[in-house]
Amino acid sequence: MAAKILITFYSTYGHTFKLAQAVQRGAETAGAEVRLRRVAELPQAAEAMKNDENYQAAQQSMSHLEEVTHDDLRWADGIAWGTPTRYGNMAAQVKQFIDTTSPLWSKGELEDKASGVFVSTATQHGGQESTILSFHIPLLHLGMILVGSPYGQNPTLFNVENIHGGSPYGPSTIAGGDGSLQPKEGDLEMSIKLGTRLAKVSERLASLRG
Ligand SMILES: Cc1cc2nc3c(=O)[nH]c(=O)nc-3n(C[C@H](O)[C@H](O)[C@H](O)COP(=O)(O)O)c2cc1C
Repeated sequence: MAAKILITFYSTYGHTFKLAQAVQRGAETAGAEVRLRRVAELPQAAEAMKNDENYQAAQQSMSHLEEVTHDDLRWADGIAWGTPTRYGNMAAQVKQFIDTTSPLWSKGELEDKASGVFVSTATQHGGQESTILSFHIPLLHLGMILVGSPYGQNPTLFNVENIHGGSPYGPSTIAGGDGSLQPKEGDLEMSIKLGTRLAKVSERLASLRG
């Protein structure tokens, strides 16, 4: 049976959203049924950003997506989480949502489901790896099985000729200090591959869970 994959993300300026769409393409290529959901904005952030045109345009481009719910988490066989970096960690919006999951945690409802993480940072060494690795901590508490981006499937990881995102921990992109950069071909390729791998692993785990 086709895996059910939830891709859920928060994005201020749209870079993480672009990776999420690529993860979606990869999961669909593997035959998965996909839900793409955004994490709800925090009112304080919306208020602080209300005069930022780039923020408004990005939020508008995502406004057709439903907000993620606990039922989406229950529905999924595998989950891809996307976040921009905030001081080397996940964004508060995503943490706030994860911190509502104790009803699922207490019943082990996410245990033995697959999970992968993708991120956006402003700069090359601004915390891509720390964001993904620290994101893994709550996922492990929830009992999820981590899916990364291994070298064999991701030749982009060997590219040292130019600046790009991606690590064995997961796909990523570099937005630039002013947000003017866009995901590179390799960043999108790694995101597609995460979606495909997550779908394949989730399908097998679903059959093991019975
Ligand atoms: C409060 C705050 C903290 C941030 N911390 C970092 C950081 O530690 N490293 C970094 O490279 N970028 C940092 N950024 C920049 C964001 O990661 C960047 O805007 C984001 O990756 C763009 O992705 P998005 O378009 O999906 O929002 C920070 C931005 C904000 C608002």
